[in-house]
Amino acid sequence: MKLSWLAAAVLGAATTHAVEQITAVGNKFFTSSGKQFFAKGIAYQLVEDDPLVDAEQCSRDAELMKTLGTNSLRVYHVDPKADHTKCMEIFDKAGIYLMIDLDTFDTYILPDDPWWNQTQHDRYAEVMDAFIKYDNVLAFFVGNEIISKPTHSTAAPYIKAACRDMKAHRARKGYRPVPVGYSAADIAELRPMLQDYLTCGGNASENVDFFALNSYSWCDPANYQTSGYVGLQKQAANFPVPILFSETGCNVPGPRLFDDQDAIFGPDMINDWSGSIVYEWIEEANHYGLISYGPPVPMTATGVNVKGGFTRAGTPTPVSPDFQNLKTKWATISPTGVALSNYDAAKVSTRVCPTSTASGWLVNGNVALPTIGETFKGTYSTVPSATGSGGQVAPPSPTSTDNPAAPNREIAGMSAGLVGVMLFFTFWL
Ligand SMILES: *[C@@H]1O[C@H](CO)[C@@H](O)[C@H](O)[C@H]1NC(C)=O
Ligand SMILES: *[C@@H]1O[C@H](CO)[C@@H](O)[C@H](O)[C@H]1NC(C)=O
Repeated sequence: MKLSWLAAAVLGAATTHAVEQITAVGNKFFTSSGKQFFAKGIAYQLVEDDPLVDAEQCSRDAELMKTLGTNSLRVYHVDPKADHTKCMEIFDKAGIYLMIDLDTFDTYILPDDPWWNQTQHDRYAEVMDAFIKYDNVLAFFVGNEIISKPTHSTAAPYIKAACRDMKAHRARKGYRPVPVGYSAADIAELRPMLQDYLTCGGNASENVDFFALNSYSWCDPANYQTSGYVGLQKQAANFPVPILFSETGCNVPGPRLFDDQDAIFGPDMINDWSGSIVYEWIEEANHYGLISYGPPVPMTATGVNVKGGFTRAGTPTPVSPDFQNLKTKWATISPTGVALSNYDAAKVSTRVCPTSTASGWLVNGNVALPTIGETFKGTYSTVPSATGSGGQVAPPSPTSTDNPAAPNREIAGMSAGLVGVMLFFTFWL
């Protein structure tokens, strides 16, 4: 294995990269040769700090990922000071893009007491600086599931402020326009307002370049209607920027059939969505894994790459039948979408900034974004929009009515996601 990655690294230095850079145009992703890009992705976080530093591990995983048919990974935590060259090159050669979260364990924007200051800015920027040089970086996230209940909605302007400042950093440094976006928890009462809020106001310098949703509402057997995806689609129609699933999965009752992929890449959704990231590569206590590196070990066991009851490195062994189910599913899916040359980006919708409601969305219209270093004072002042129309305030949105067939699924799904996150924290903090 060592020889193979060394050989790959040497070859990589002498030859061109395997993947084309990707940018967002209108509400789609396009490669530099003008082909639409759809993510067939996997969440990848084997170890707490950074799964992109162990080249032998990246190589073993990339080989198996190629057989699965994945073209992108989401990584939640990286160490900007580490050397990622070899892993990034291994994934590049495997045709795999990376979506990287810019926040770290000590720089999250916190929902109950939001702030956005120079320390956070500089730490986020460090991650961007470390990864921008790789052609196979697909996107950056400024946050993950910061908002999960109505009182958290007052943190939304902080998400937008982080986005504004990371895009300004990208511009100031002359970096290529790697899309900067946000990964939202799927909360039925807040989702429509949040996705509109992050794209409203008419000033592209402050809006997300893409919006992503972590959804656990499709539990096989299910369909487009019963899963609630029909409601997600309604709010994503002709969205202003690319929209995709940054986590999908439901392992109840199991095994996973991944029929959600048929919907995401099928006629109902394909024109509006840019694919999905399946949660997740490694089998661990939350039981979403596609592969494992060995049987569970006692929760208390420690050692190199052993934590939280699981071994986190080695030879990946497919979890059966889930891995094969996804592989078979993805083999039937190869969307082409629209060519950039035939695409009119001006036709996308614009969204109005939602009005606040008493116990729901708490940010009224297009508010002045916090400046760097500003802590939340309890209210926001509404400002006129850059374009006029974007500053309009929308009537209160319908709440849970978009998912009448499965009112509890989103709750169940959300708790699956939150349990995953909580387990993650329990193990790592
Ligand atoms: C940002 O806030 C954090 C948490 O309160 C604090 O530790 C840090 O010193 C602050 N940074 C600056 C530049 O004020
Ligand atoms: C758009 O936002 C940027 C960043 O906040 C700001 O510098 C610029 O003045 C805004 N443009 C308009 C027309 O308001």
